[in-house]
Formats: sequence, structure tokens, C-alpha cells
Amino acid sequence: MQEAAKIEAAWERKYPEQVVLAITKNSEERVNLMAIGWVCIASDEPPMFLIGIDDNAYTLELIRLHKEFVIAYPSVEMADATLYVGTTHGHKEDKGVRCGLKFIPADKVNVPILADAVANFECRLVEITRPGNCPLIVGEIVASHVNADESVKRLFTLGKGYKLGKID
Ligand SMILES: Cc1cc2nc3c(=O)[nH]c(=O)nc-3n(C[C@H](O)[C@H](O)[C@H](O)COP(=O)(O)O)c2cc1C
Repeated sequence: MQEAAKIEAAWERKYPEQVVLAITKNSEERVNLMAIGWVCIASDEPPMFLIGIDDNAYTLELIRLHKEFVIAYPSVEMADATLYVGTTHGHKEDKGVRCGLKFIPADKVNVPILADAVANFECRLVEITRPGNCPLIVGEIVASHVNADESVKRLFTLGKGYKLGKID
């Protein structure tokens, strides 16, 4: 049986929700990361990701400027780092250093990938569109990487208030 509900209340039933990290670099080569739940595969030929990023995120500014970014699937062990980069802005703060995560060079973009992530996707900007109030960024995946250890588990958002953890 279904009963009518407010959209916000129905959306609260969406969990667990995937979370990814969007990695960018500024003109001084400083690495920035943010957490993103609004993400999906937008095309498989060519392969593309779509992410929704708030207007006031530093990440959006850097993607507009350099037209490239990395999407990483964080591991369960990255819960604290994900919460940190997802609750602080990178305009002044060096989140790349302070998050404690290990970076290695990417193959095709000038943004590093995460050494211990479950998977990394190097992306080049295709377009930014705005069907509602949120800018939607479409990026073509130009290279991808997976963790050689298949037992490394992906992090998810389990509930409201950025409750992060693993799903079995
Ligand atoms: C689990 C989680 C999911 C999030 N999902 C989104 C999202 O989909 N879109 C968004 O704009 N912000 C999202 N945020 C908030 C951003 O990560 C946050 O605003 C961040 O501080 C932006 O960083 P920046 O200004 O350095 O780019 C999320 C945060 C967390 C912790």
C-alpha cells in the first residue's frame, strides 16, 4: 500500500545512497576534494558521469576553470576523510593535505587519483547544465582505475545527517 507523502519525506527513504569524492586542483596545484551524493552514470558510449554540485562549492569553480576532475569511490576506511571534505569548503582550506588521504598521479588529467580508493575515474568536462536550481556537471571518463584488492569495501551514506558506513 502507498500513501501520499511530502517529497522531502519520500526522499528520506533513499538510503543507502552512494557517495563519491570529486577531486580537483587549483591554479597553485593545490588539490581539493568534496563529497557528492548526487551522482550517476550518464552515458556508457562514450562513458560519462553526471554530478550535481552546489553553486557555492569551490569544486564547481575549479571544474569551470580547468575543465577536468576525478571521481573516486571512497572506501569504508575513508569515512572520516569523506565527512571532513564534505563539510568544509576548499576556498581557503587545504583539504588535500588535511584529509590525510594518499594521492598518486593520474594518467590523462592534471588531477591526482586516490591511491586507496575502491575505483577512480579521470573525467574531462563535457557540459554544465541547470534544469533546476543545481548545476549538473557532465564529464567524459577518459581513464579509470580499480583497487587491486577486491576486498576493499565501498563507503555509502546510510542515513540523514551524513551518516556514513558500509553496507553488507
Ligand atoms: C555524504 C555527503 C554527500 C554530499 N553530497 C553533495 C552533493 O551531491 N552535492 C553537493 O553540492 N554537495 C554535497 N555535499 C556537500 C559538499 O561536499 C560540501 O559542500 C563541500 O564542503 C564542498 O567542498 P568545496 O567547497 O571544497 O568544493 C555532500 C557532503 C557529504 C558529507
